[in-house]
Amino acid sequence: MKELEKQKAFELASPYPYVLIVTLDKRERPNIMGLSWWMFTSWSPLMIAVSVGHQRYSHECLEHHREFVLCFPSEGQEKDAWTCGTKSGRVTDKFKDTGFKAVHSKAVKPPAIDGSTVSFECKVVDQVETGDHTVYIAEVVAIQGSPEKVMHLYSIHYAKLISIGSNGKIKMDLKC
Ligand SMILES: Cc1cc2nc3c(=O)[nH]c(=O)nc-3n(C[C@H](O)[C@H](O)[C@H](O)COP(=O)(O)O)c2cc1C
Repeated sequence: MKELEKQKAFELASPYPYVLIVTLDKRERPNIMGLSWWMFTSWSPLMIAVSVGHQRYSHECLEHHREFVLCFPSEGQEKDAWTCGTKSGRVTDKFKDTGFKAVHSKAVKPPAIDGSTVSFECKVVDQVETGDHTVYIAEVVAIQGSPEKVMHLYSIHYAKLISIGSNGKIKMDLKC
């Protein structure tokens, strides 16, 4: 064991799950952001926490409309998913600039992304300031998904995406 720089440690600790958070802006336009810092926090009721940087447009969206959909992009969606983690909704409409198709959610206003392995529809119930991010804690109010799309995305540091399936398979050579 040896002492590590924060950057190196963060890289070594990857892969991280890579999901997409869909929010609504002040004009009721949906925005999509790539997100690795999320977790389940409760089974009953089912609850999720997401950590969103203060500078993100998605942060502004969540302060305006307190619902989101957490989508697990499936293999084949990596290029568009990567765009959502590298471009801001302040300067681009990510539903228009990607091939992502919005589908109606069951219980919240922001849409889900068609073809997601799973999408969790969430209502924010609390939030905690933590350094340069806000952790939004939310209750899951509906779940949709595509059970045939078992392979979904993980990030290696901030450099690339791979896919891992609930069947234990791994695919490394994704192009994004
Ligand atoms: C692999 C990866 C993981 C990321 N995870 C997070 C995260 O957990 N929280 C966060 O606030 N931003 C995260 N980001 C950064 C945002 O996705 C990125 O800044 C995005 O352009 C913000 O979009 P927005 O301004 O439309 O909200 C991540 C980016 C990548 C590439």
